[in-house]
Amino acid sequence: MMRRACDLVSRTLGEVAKWVSPGVTTLRLDTIAREFILDNGGKPSCLGYHGFPGTLCIEVNETVVHGFPSDYALREGDIVGTDCVAELDGFCGDSCYTFAVGDIDPKTEALLTVTKESLYKGIAAARAGRRIGDIANAVQTYCEHHGYSVVREMCGHGIGKSMHEDPEVPNYGRRGVGPLLKPGMCIAIEPMINLGSKNIVISGDGWQCRTKDRKPSAHFEHTIVITETEPEIMTTFRYIEEALGISSETVKS
Ligand code: MF3
Ligand code: CO
Repeated sequence: MMRRACDLVSRTLGEVAKWVSPGVTTLRLDTIAREFILDNGGKPSCLGYHGFPGTLCIEVNETVVHGFPSDYALREGDIVGTDCVAELDGFCGDSCYTFAVGDIDPKTEALLTVTKESLYKGIAAARAGRRIGDIANAVQTYCEHHGYSVVREMCGHGIGKSMHEDPEVPNYGRRGVGPLLKPGMCIAIEPMINLGSKNIVISGDGWQCRTKDRKPSAHFEHTIVITETEPEIMTTFRYIEEALGISSETVKS
């Protein structure tokens, strides 16, 4: 059931990927995602969640998480994260991908690359018998080694019948601490990494979160399941990368 929900959210982001380009509004991306989920028998979990107004969280440039879809038209040089949760037959899949809109600044491009790689570093640490802190530390170490900073206030999470379940999965922390990982646990790992300082500001409505220094922030997310051996990544960027015409997502530890 989790694999099916994860496949749906992955294919949804694959549809969104076909539309990301200069001039397209983020509301348009949101409509594409909502219609695709509904057409495939799913439910857009974020829409209406504590009043959230979109199917996608839209994260343009300095927006870290929880941005609203709007009539803002993407511009060449922007980055845009699209974070999506789809529910299918009572189970949830959660994934996020940050896209480059046309040509972007090489420093921002490197931030995207390292943030995506850090997600796979975190996943590689997600093995039965280890702890949440091992995942957190793997992400943090990799990103800070490249000179980036890790957002503290937001984290990944357990996932299943609800989109947010225990345990919390931070992107910073110490090895060997936190909840024990066991086969069958489903978690969403989602590094939120800033080019500048780690500090963020949250808008008055309590939702939209941006970097304090207004430098860019990147965000990638997969839903995975802990197994007896290697973690299984149940969401995939394959559909996105096919749509963008770029090669495989797989970055091994
Ligand atoms: N997809 C987000 C996450 O990764 C959740 C979105 S919060 C919502 O946890 F309110 F927008 F739904
Ligand atoms: Co999530």
